[in-house]
Formats: sequence, structure tokens, C-alpha cells
Amino acid sequence: MTIDAIIVAAGRGERAGGGIPKQFRSLAGRSVLARTLDALAGHAAIRRVVVVVNPQDTDHVDAVRRETARDFATVPGGATRTDSVRAGLAALAGDAPDAVMIHDAARPFLSSALIDRLAGALVRHEAVIPALPATDALMRVMTDGMIAEPVDRAVVRAAQTPQAFRFDTLGAAYARLDGGGLADDAAVILAAGGQVHTVEGDADNFKLTMPADFRRAEAMLMGETITVSGQGFDVHRLEPADTMWLCGVELHEGLGLVGHSDADAGLHAVTDAVLGCAGAGDIGQHFPPSDPKWKGAASDAFLLHALDLLHEAGGQVIHADVTLIAERPKIGPYRAAMRTRLAQLLRLDPKRVNIKATTTEKLGFTGRGEGLAAQAIVTARLS
Ligand code: CTP
Ligand code: MG
Repeated sequence: MTIDAIIVAAGRGERAGGGIPKQFRSLAGRSVLARTLDALAGHAAIRRVVVVVNPQDTDHVDAVRRETARDFATVPGGATRTDSVRAGLAALAGDAPDAVMIHDAARPFLSSALIDRLAGALVRHEAVIPALPATDALMRVMTDGMIAEPVDRAVVRAAQTPQAFRFDTLGAAYARLDGGGLADDAAVILAAGGQVHTVEGDADNFKLTMPADFRRAEAMLMGETITVSGQGFDVHRLEPADTMWLCGVELHEGLGLVGHSDADAGLHAVTDAVLGCAGAGDIGQHFPPSDPKWKGAASDAFLLHALDLLHEAGGQVIHADVTLIAERPKIGPYRAAMRTRLAQLLRLDPKRVNIKATTTEKLGFTGRGEGLAAQAIVTARLS
């Protein structure tokens, strides 16, 4: 039996917060989606994988492609999960499999044993999902939160993904579906009058939904990682100019930094600190000033390359702290923009990035306004 998989990853992850959609956030050095892909695409029973994404997330998807060697196609999703699954099914229809597993990107901890159970059950059943018994006592409540009555725990299950279906059965159920907005694909089969079987779910295969779920996931993975720090320092000469690049932001203060690239001392210090975490030498080794290729280069490229090296080393940045040392320009008006830009480049929540500025009381080369210095400490987790 050929089995394809659809990973739905087009949601916004609003309940989880965290600045970017949850499926692209990092868990101990690896994005949620890369972990989910490894589990599904790495299973021998799965022929190919389609990931349904929001077209706004192209940069995030590119970053995941750099993180994993797994092969996957992408298709644009829709406004609801139901719409996104529909888009995934349409993408598979040209070379339809016998069966399909639909999985939430936000469940990175699915085990190969669970995929085995589902694939085994597909031989006998047209629709099968993993289900877990409830452990808490259950209550039905009224709209004001008052308890109406207890619910017998023995007759309910919590539904997980992957949910597995004969392809034609699920396709027909989706074709009959009027509208959308159903919680999962089992509900689509039931709405079409079909039957859905269950196999034993897995408590570790929880869905990252709220901020606390990320803390639980980090704690689960924490035992496998170590925390390291890297330090960076850079200086460039100041001279009158229309613009200056500092921490990835353009300043218009009548001053510029002189150097072979765009001379962004802030990003250079952060790049060196990232290289420090990766154990990968320094910025001059990777981007020699003697190489004309880097003349006038935007320093974003240096930082992104250093981050790639850190990812290859199994690392992920978790915090950055930058100190800018100069009498002028005044950093205050640009501090928020620098924090936002650096967080974007490092794929961190802005709360995990700090920008400080100080003068040297008119002492030394920074005090005389001859140059600007930048220091950075970056903390990373290595798995
Ligand atoms: N999903 C999707 N397309 C949508 C909505 C959700 O592909 N229009 C995916 C999500 O990316 C996620 C899965 O469906 O992998 C389960 O949905 P949920 O946990 O609700 O994720 P989000 O919708 O992203 O989160 P939230 O509801 O908190 O915004
Ligand atoms: Mg949702």
C-alpha cells in the first residue's frame, strides 16, 4: 500500500504566541517543522510528504529546508485547517496514493511506533486515528462556566494526529463537505456518514498549542542538550556620511562606518559570537576582507552564514546581548528597531535580544569619536 503524508503548517499559532508561527519556532536547536518532517519523511512506510504552508512564511520554509535534508513539496494553505487539508489532498491527487496520513506540524514528537500502528490498521480500516483516554475527571459546563453534569470518562477519547485514511474515502468525504471549519479529518469522515476507528495514541505526541506546551517540550529535550556562549568584538572607523548600518538598521545621523563590507560593527560582533558558539573560528576566516566578493556586502549575509554553520553543528541561538560603544550617534532612537531586526535574523523572540549602548566618557578612540566598537555575547543550545 502506498502511503503519502500531508503536514498542515499554514496556521498562525496565535495561542502559542512567540513572535512567529509556532511550527517554525526552535525547540532545543531544531525547528518544530524540521522535527515533524524528520519523523514522518524518515519513516519507511511514507512515500512522499506535502507540507501545506502560508505563502507569507516563505522565508521560514526556506530556513527549514536548510535545516533538513528531507525532501518535501509545499502547497499554499487556506483560512482554516479544513481548507489547508483540502489543498494538500488536491496536490496529491495527480499521483494519488492508496492512503494518506494527515498530521499537524505542531506535533513534532510523533513516534515511528505510532506510524506503524496506523499503517497496520489501514489494512483493515478506511479511517483510523490515534486516541488517548482522558485521565482527568470530565465535566460538561454551561456557557457561564458552571458545571452542568459530570461526563463518563470511559466513553471519551482525545483525538491526535496523524490521522490515516484510504485516499479515495477521505477525498470523497471532503468533496461532500459543505463549508469547512471542522476540528480534524475524522470529523470530515463522520460528517459524510463514514466510520472512524482508533488506535492507541501517545501522550508524548501532544500538540504545541499554548506557551506552556513549549516549556514542556523544551524540558523533554533539555536533557539532550548543553548550553554554550560565544563572544564577539568589532571596531570600525567613523567618518561623516549620509548613512550608517548598525545592527542591521540604517541610521541617518551624518556619520558612517568605514570598512570593506557595509561595516556594520554590531552585526559583525554578533556574527563572531555565533561562530564562537559553533566553534567555527572568526568572521575573517569565512569572509576575508581581501576577497572582492564581500566589498560593500550587507552584513546580514555574514550572520546568516554563521547561523547555518551553528545549525550544522546542531546548535540554536537562544539569547543575544549586544553593547555598542560610541559617543555618537545616539543609539536610543534606533534601539527598538535594532532589537526587532536582530531578533528577526536570529529567529528569536525580541525578548531574547538586548541592545545596550555606552560612551567611554570621552576617553580613548571611541571617546574621541574616531570609531565605534561593538561587543556581543550569544548563548546557544547544542544538541
Ligand atoms: N493549520 C493549517 N491551516 C490553517 C489553520 C491551522 O494548516 N488555516 C494547521 C496548523 O499549522 C497546525 C494544525 O493545523 O499545525 C493544528 O492547528 P492549531 O493547533 O490550531 O494551529 P494554529 O491554527 O496555527 O494555532 P492557533 O489556533 O493558536 O492560531
Ligand atoms: Mg487553529
